Amino acid sequence: MNISYAPLPVERRQTPPATVDTFGEIRTDHMFVADYRGGAWHDPRIVPYSPFSLAPGAACLHYGQTLFEGAKAFKHTDGEVYIWRFDENMKRLNHSASILMMPEVPEDLQLEGLMRLIDLERDWCPGKPESSLYIRPFMFATQDMLGVKPSKTYIFCIMLSPSGPYYAGGFNEAITLLITEKYHRAVSGGTGTSKAAGNYAASLRPAKHAVDAGADQVLYLDASNTYLEEVGTMNHFHVLDDGTFVIPRFDDSVLRSITSVSVLELAGQGRFKARQEKIPLKDFIADIKSGRIIEAGGFGTAAVVSPVNRYLLEDGSSLTVGDGKIGRHSRALYELYSGMQTGLVPAPEGWLRKVPRFKAD
Ligand code: PLP
Ligand code: COI
Repeated sequence: MNISYAPLPVERRQTPPATVDTFGEIRTDHMFVADYRGGAWHDPRIVPYSPFSLAPGAACLHYGQTLFEGAKAFKHTDGEVYIWRFDENMKRLNHSASILMMPEVPEDLQLEGLMRLIDLERDWCPGKPESSLYIRPFMFATQDMLGVKPSKTYIFCIMLSPSGPYYAGGFNEAITLLITEKYHRAVSGGTGTSKAAGNYAASLRPAKHAVDAGADQVLYLDASNTYLEEVGTMNHFHVLDDGTFVIPRFDDSVLRSITSVSVLELAGQGRFKARQEKIPLKDFIADIKSGRIIEAGGFGTAAVVSPVNRYLLEDGSSLTVGDGKIGRHSRALYELYSGMQTGLVPAPEGWLRKVPRFKAD
């Protein structure tokens, strides 16, 4: 594939910060872009990070034909940059595209665009604990038309953001979730298994409701208000008193989290116990009260392992998980998972890919 670079030679416009403790605030100097028209992708290129030119009638602005992914790259002690399970993100991006009637982005285009972009921006990858180079691939519809139908043209872009933890306190500060019957994130047959931008727009009002109630986020239920589903930015888990991690089943209204899938795959190798099941809300509440559930939290790329120590209910009551402290099972899993990502603990074959140094070719 012929990816063009503009401008050449690449010029640093900003100085990469030595430490980062915010999520998603900082941009690197460049981005990768490709255009879709006439049924094919054209002109893959790396350009300075800068605004797009978009028609006011562009379909993405009116009907939300927009999707995104979230992945991470880490600097290891050998000084090289490694991307984490990006193969899974590429597949999920195309799953989201199929749900939103958008074209597939070939995996070789996604991967080579990302590798070349990171190679150029490798100085921006932080090497500090709880920080990483957050990768944000996204695609949006650009056709200037007001009919409600799939656009014929799109832009695919990858931008990078050196980031700290998603929740300001990182792993060491547990969060509170509101369990509500009032709002739902997704329904069966809808867009919940995709990273459609509209899913996140729809989560803003429930998130405000949660904050007003004294929580950090919503733990969504299924549309019948019977089963646990997930949080707007991460999958949910709890830990039983025998140390088993339990994740709600990936029904067709739950995002198939790459972090959850990885946890289940690691459990499959016998490192610890984890399983998925349908979790009735009433059992979840009873098990927290009885002490059968001892820890809880969320799994996600941005969230990694985010402990939850309290749940608020709409009747004003609250439930504390275990002794309210961050538990040893969540800590051990967080250390294992982030240790693999940062190269301190061996990861399964193929989970990390080293970013090549193309310029030396
Ligand atoms: N659920 C939702 C709704 C998300 O936005 C995310 C983040 O991507 C996750 C779960 C976690 O998925 P992953 O582990 O692939 O980042
Ligand atoms: C991620 O974890 O990468 C996400 O996409 C979640 C988010 C910040 C919306």
